[in-house]
Order: sequence, then structure tokens, then C-alpha cells
Amino acid sequence: MSDEPTDEPAREQTHRGMIPVRRAVCPGSFDPVTNGHLDIIGRAANLYDELVVAVFVNRSKSGLFTVDERIAMLEEVTADLPNVRVDSFRGLTVDYCKAHDIHVIIKGLRAVSDFDYELQMAQMNRGLAGVDTLFMPTNPEYSFLASSLVKDIAGWGGDVANLVPPTVLKRLIERTRGA
Ligand code: PNS
Repeated sequence: MSDEPTDEPAREQTHRGMIPVRRAVCPGSFDPVTNGHLDIIGRAANLYDELVVAVFVNRSKSGLFTVDERIAMLEEVTADLPNVRVDSFRGLTVDYCKAHDIHVIIKGLRAVSDFDYELQMAQMNRGLAGVDTLFMPTNPEYSFLASSLVKDIAGWGGDVANLVPPTVLKRLIERTRGA
């Protein structure tokens, strides 16, 4: 490899060699993405070379937004994060991980109430496929925030402007008020 300086970030140059790309996935429903999700995505993107935000296609639950709409919103709000890409998946998260050479699942923890279920899933995923889960505490500013609450509040005409990115707010208003 040439020692000539280039415009490319140093981190990319190191990965041309023997050091594997550190890749993680942030799975979820993202119906729709909230400021709480975005906080976790941004912080996780700082820890890994590549972060995949993966929308789970749930056969038994249709959302307010289609999977394509959720992906579009995620792409819009992560456009400034160059090492983040958005995808969707069906089936087990660990199967998605195996298929994409991902060894870490990122989960945000809002409160102790999240912990029981998340721990159970993390241990199951570790047992199923050896995939580890990294828990990140959410910013306390967003500890009460959930997509389901945002949809409920928006549906009743409440103000969610501080809870979701502007592009999501616009779509929420259009969808819930039929504008
Ligand atoms: O945003 P959500 O709805 O809390 O996300 C939950 C999600 C999609 C991350 C979780 O339900 C999941 O991983 N589903 C994929 C199916 C799977 O792997 N189930 C076994 C979990 S141990």
C-alpha cells in the first residue's frame, strides 16, 4: 500500500488490511423512528465501522407506516451518518446477523422496565447464534418515548414536534389527519 496521503479517512485505510470491519445491527419496528431511536443510532454509529438499522417485517402486525415508508424515513434522518445504512428483514434477527456477518446487536434501554424482556432476548440470541447484544442507556430526555405513544398522541392531534425528526412529523401529521 502506498504511504501517499489521501482524502480518505484513516479508519477506512486500516480496513483494507487484515483488520475486519466492525459491524453492528440496530433492529426494531421503527414505526416510526423517533428522536430516541436516532440518539441510539447516532451513538452506536460512533462505536462501529458500519451500523445497519434493520426494520423488522412483522407478519402478524401491520403498522401505521409501511416498511418502505419506515425505511424512507430512516434513510432521511440518517443521511448525515455515512457509516449507517438501512435495511429490512424477516425472520430471526440472529439469522440476519449471520447472513450479513454481524456479531453485535445494539439495543437502547429506556428504563428498568425494558430490561427484563431485553435481557431475555439478548440471552436467547447469544444462545441461538453467539450474537452478543450491547445495551445503550437512552438519553434521559427520551426515557419515556415510544413510537406507540407518538402515534397515539399524533392521532389525537397532540404535539409531538419535540419527539420525532421534522420529516417524520410531517408524515405523521399527513397520515393521522389524512392531510
Ligand atoms: O422496535 P421493537 O418492536 O421493540 O423491536 C423488536 C425486535 C424487532 C427487535 C424484536 O422483536 C426482534 O428481534 N424480532 C425478530 C424476530 C426474532 O429474532 N425473535 C426472537 C428474539 S429472541
